[in-house]
Amino acid sequence: MSARPYVLLSVAVSIDGYLDDASPDRLLLSNPEDFDRVDAVRADCDAILVGAETLRRDNPRLLVGSDTRRAHRIAAGKPEFPVKIVVTATGELDPELRFFHTGGDKLVYTTDRGAARSAGPLAGLAEVVSLGASVDFGALLEDLGRRGVGRLMVEGGGHIHTAFLATDLADELLMAVAPVLVGDSAAPRFLRPADFPGGPRRRMELADVARVGDVALLRYLPKQRAAPGTPQ
Ligand SMILES: NC(=O)c1ccc[n+]([C@@H]2O[C@H](COP(=O)([O-])OP(=O)(O)OC[C@H]3O[C@@H](n4cnc5c(N)ncnc54)[C@H](OP(=O)(O)O)[C@@H]3O)[C@@H](O)[C@H]2O)c1
Repeated sequence: MSARPYVLLSVAVSIDGYLDDASPDRLLLSNPEDFDRVDAVRADCDAILVGAETLRRDNPRLLVGSDTRRAHRIAAGKPEFPVKIVVTATGELDPELRFFHTGGDKLVYTTDRGAARSAGPLAGLAEVVSLGASVDFGALLEDLGRRGVGRLMVEGGGHIHTAFLATDLADELLMAVAPVLVGDSAAPRFLRPADFPGGPRRRMELADVARVGDVALLRYLPKQRAAPGTPQ
């Protein structure tokens, strides 16, 4: 069995814990310096994963924007772009989405039902992989390990981040807190209610805190316990 990749969750949140506002246009929570930091994290990963709703709402390209970083990837013997991955149960993905027409290899992880729906429309655009009746994230990581993915960046949205944390599959969480209040219950939250391992009494290790302009960057290690001396 191949090793599962290292899983890094990346998110930008408002101070009140939202991923976006409820308007049709995406709310930009990061500042330019922080977007450049995210570009560097992408360049350092073998694959980038998002949920289908993020593709449907934001239509992102999910590329490495910096020419220098792409050149470094090529010089290191890597593909120019990380593999792009989307997770969908329904398979409802518009083949015109920018995701399918930019960058390098693309994978769609889905169910038997989702594969039946998407394999035709996405033929030639992405490899559609069914994981059976439902998407098991452990099985997804094992498949990525077999494909040589050593480092996976998960860019959301909230359902996907919740799934990785609830199944204890996230090794690292990079959380950029923007000085913004959204205050709208119709907007998507970073995390949904879930049975998180250990519950509210389990404290993650806070590995680092940095300032990126007006954004605070927190680096947590969800699988590691807090350092001795901190409340348990
Ligand atoms: N601030 C940030 O850093 C950031 C980053 C990314 C996204 N966002 C925002 O987050 C919002 C979208 O987040 P979201 O929570 O609504 O959606 P999401 O997590 O992007 O995607 C949810 C979709 O993923 C698929 N999915 C999730 N869990 C699954 C499972 N266990 N098995 C199979 N498929 C599964 C389903 O797709 P199907 O419905 O196709 O079955 C589900 O509807 C957008 O507003 C976006 O702008 C913000």
